[in-house]
Amino acid sequence: MDRTTMPHTMVIFGASGDLTSRKLIPALYRQFQRGRLPKPTRIVGVSRSPFSSEDWRNQLTETTAKYVKGEFDNDSWKAFSNEIYYHPGDIGNEEDFHKLAAFLTDIEKSQTTDRTYYLSTMPQLYATAVEQLGKASLNIDTHGHRRVVIEKPFGTDLASAQALNASIHQTFREDQIYRIDHYLGKETVQNILVLRFGNTIFEPLWNRNYVDHVQITVAEEVTVGRRGDYYDKSGVLRDMFQNHIFQLMMVTAMEAPVRYTGEFVRDEKVKVLQAVRPYRGSDFSEFGVRGQYAGYAQEEGVPEGSQTETFAALKLYIDNWRWRGVPFYLRSGKGMSCRSSQIVIQFREPPHMLFGEQKSYRPEANRLVIQIQPAEGVQLFFQSKVPDSDMRLRLSELDFRFDSSGKELPDAYQRLLLDAMAGDPGLFARSDEVEQAWRIIDPIISAWKSPAAPTLHTYEAGGWGPTQCSEWMEEQGRTWFDVCPVLS
Ligand code: BG6
Repeated sequence: MDRTTMPHTMVIFGASGDLTSRKLIPALYRQFQRGRLPKPTRIVGVSRSPFSSEDWRNQLTETTAKYVKGEFDNDSWKAFSNEIYYHPGDIGNEEDFHKLAAFLTDIEKSQTTDRTYYLSTMPQLYATAVEQLGKASLNIDTHGHRRVVIEKPFGTDLASAQALNASIHQTFREDQIYRIDHYLGKETVQNILVLRFGNTIFEPLWNRNYVDHVQITVAEEVTVGRRGDYYDKSGVLRDMFQNHIFQLMMVTAMEAPVRYTGEFVRDEKVKVLQAVRPYRGSDFSEFGVRGQYAGYAQEEGVPEGSQTETFAALKLYIDNWRWRGVPFYLRSGKGMSCRSSQIVIQFREPPHMLFGEQKSYRPEANRLVIQIQPAEGVQLFFQSKVPDSDMRLRLSELDFRFDSSGKELPDAYQRLLLDAMAGDPGLFARSDEVEQAWRIIDPIISAWKSPAAPTLHTYEAGGWGPTQCSEWMEEQGRTWFDVCPVLS
């Protein structure tokens, strides 16, 4: 993909918000330090607060130094922040968008410039912001590309996601729209595609003939903290499954695309969601476990007696040629034992076990563990002979660390911002993908809200969720891989 050399303006709506100072500006600054931004790249912050460019730059100097830690240096920051501007504006006010248009033309000195509009506002404002951009002709791309980046959540159910898509499509074409799911910007998630399609040894085994089941876990040690108000309306299925966990499932299960380009990759991903078997009737209790950590209902912003899940485990089937009959167990929760996102490919047992007769040891089948974070890497577990024994076996492990340099991996936003600016959509969700994900999650959410909902189990923070979830897995003759990653 050609990285553009055209001047660029990044307009951030919701400039005074936490995401801007914590993620967006640090990510852009790091890329500037590496010489990867188009020259010049101007950043224009828009929000209602009435401060000057100078004030905003000063605030960002402090927050950026805090978030990029040792990578901050005065000279590069000065050069970068010279092109940071602030323009007050209200998303509800059409006039403010006309003023913004004049301001942009002025700072761009009427030169042809690509623009990225980043919506980091409250989700309720996405549709209005896009409509206002259209009214001020800020979507017209005759003098440079015009793209819009939209933060999650994209809708709260299928109907709202469809309505939002329809509304945005009145102003921007699909190829101008970049829906963020920051999981796709993680290095280790992209590495799954390399692991699968850049090698020959895994792919022949990556199917129903060899794989018993797949486990995808995104465990978080943190509880909801001060996000109770948002979280209680969302719950874990909307907050983590519909987006991040489904993305992990898609890259794990998809077929090889014809080429590694945006549309081909996204075509294959969406086919995975299309093949997910819909839940019906009693499936809702049989195929999932819900939980809430003890003390959740006392968190700030959470109504007393809340029935919102902070933990869920689902068993999904992907009904296609490759995966028919192979369960995908997806699980996520807050207040878990440790922070760990991992994908486990659990292979079948050998057809006939020749060894491992000893009573105290039952050989486990092969397992490939892809550690997404924090101990980014891949481990392959296999049986080997205990040296100097009769044919006794033990479980051994090949352990690959993704980056052994000890440096922190780049933040997902670094990659995603650069891709959006360059017009590379591969790591962004397409409209059909988002809608299909809601088609799967919506019926589960409604069933779990209905009087016939399965029990909401309470679990103590600091473990692996409700004990009923482990029992549920054991009833199916399987066990969760409940291992906290070892940080090197
Ligand atoms: C966000 C969710 O999208 O992802 C949060 O709203 C969650 O609840 C976060 O904590 C997890 O992201 P990461 O990158 O820390 O795994």
